[in-house]
Amino acid sequence: MSVKQNLRSEVILEKYGKSLAGKTVLITGVSDQSIAGELAIQLSNADPKLLILSARAESKVAPIAEKIKASKPNVETRFLNMELGDLSNIHQAVNEGLADVPKIDHVVFVAAVMACPFSRTKDGFEMQFGVNYLANFFLVKLLLPKIQAAGPTSSIIVTSSAAMRQGQVHFDDLDFSDGKTYEPLVAYSQSNAARTMFAKRLGENLKSQGIRVFSIDPGGICLHRLAKALPPDFPEMMEEWKKAGPLLDVDGKEFDFPTWTTRSEGAATMITGMIDPTIADYTGAFLSQNAVANDHMHAHVRDEQNCTRLWEMSEKMIQEKYPL
Ligand SMILES: NC(=O)c1ccc[n+]([C@@H]2O[C@H](COP(=O)([O-])OP(=O)(O)OC[C@H]3O[C@@H](n4cnc5c(N)ncnc54)[C@H](OP(=O)(O)O)[C@@H]3O)[C@@H](O)[C@H]2O)c1
Repeated sequence: MSVKQNLRSEVILEKYGKSLAGKTVLITGVSDQSIAGELAIQLSNADPKLLILSARAESKVAPIAEKIKASKPNVETRFLNMELGDLSNIHQAVNEGLADVPKIDHVVFVAAVMACPFSRTKDGFEMQFGVNYLANFFLVKLLLPKIQAAGPTSSIIVTSSAAMRQGQVHFDDLDFSDGKTYEPLVAYSQSNAARTMFAKRLGENLKSQGIRVFSIDPGGICLHRLAKALPPDFPEMMEEWKKAGPLLDVDGKEFDFPTWTTRSEGAATMITGMIDPTIADYTGAFLSQNAVANDHMHAHVRDEQNCTRLWEMSEKMIQEKYPL
């Protein structure tokens, strides 16, 4: 197993990319400047059969699809129109947009919203919890038969963040007293804790089927789009905070601010999760800098009862039972 290091996507693909030839990959959150857009372009170089590019407007995906068409005309792309803040829309997107896709080898959840003002999804859930986490929980439930049809070595990659380290699921007050006690970054951290707890439990549940599941931290990458609700000088503010010393996680353990990386380096850890054979036995783990980083998980996230509670609560929220 490798040590933590920032690597470009090209490096991971050169090592393991052959396994992606002919595969079908679904990516959420695709747009021209997003990490997901970069991921799609990087993966196209490994000659997959089909890249399903999901966003909530075709105009977001078009520049990426055009670049792929120009450089890899043999790789098919498809736009999947999906609003992650609306469970019925997700259901419809899967039913109508993927009806003719019998198997999906890799699913990479990248879409997110960060530190937005308090609002709710169409189904009434706090926006960051709903879009960043619950939509993924629902999507895996819907996509599982197609992922299982792809067989062992298929993967489910749940993008998380170093913000997970300061996040807990506020089980008794998920929506911050109807927004009254809402703090945008606390809610972002909550959604990332939920993402990592979900991947941990899903990895355990799917281990016997050989399906890989990881949550990953892509590192600090240009925050101007993701953190558009925060002050425009937020990245510079972070640089100032860094000077004050390390951060503390939920357990009070010190950790360093994430280092700034490129989009290629951010997408690399996703690709590591998808195909690096040396980490297959660690399914359910949290990855950072292309390596297993379970030491980044604090006690609340590791706690089995919390993971069970989140799972059961999420089933109630989506009003469906998982077949696992
Ligand atoms: N950038 C970083 O430094 C950093 C650090 C740690 C973790 N991450 C994680 O990395 C991922 C990607 O970040 P990024 O920097 O690439 O962000 P980004 O450029 O803002 O991309 C996020 C994508 O998610 C989409 N999205 C947001 N709300 C949606 C919804 N309701 N339905 C469908 N799509 C929606 C956005 O589409 P619209 O344009 O339509 O809004 C956008 O394409 C996120 O999961 C984030 O939590 C990022």
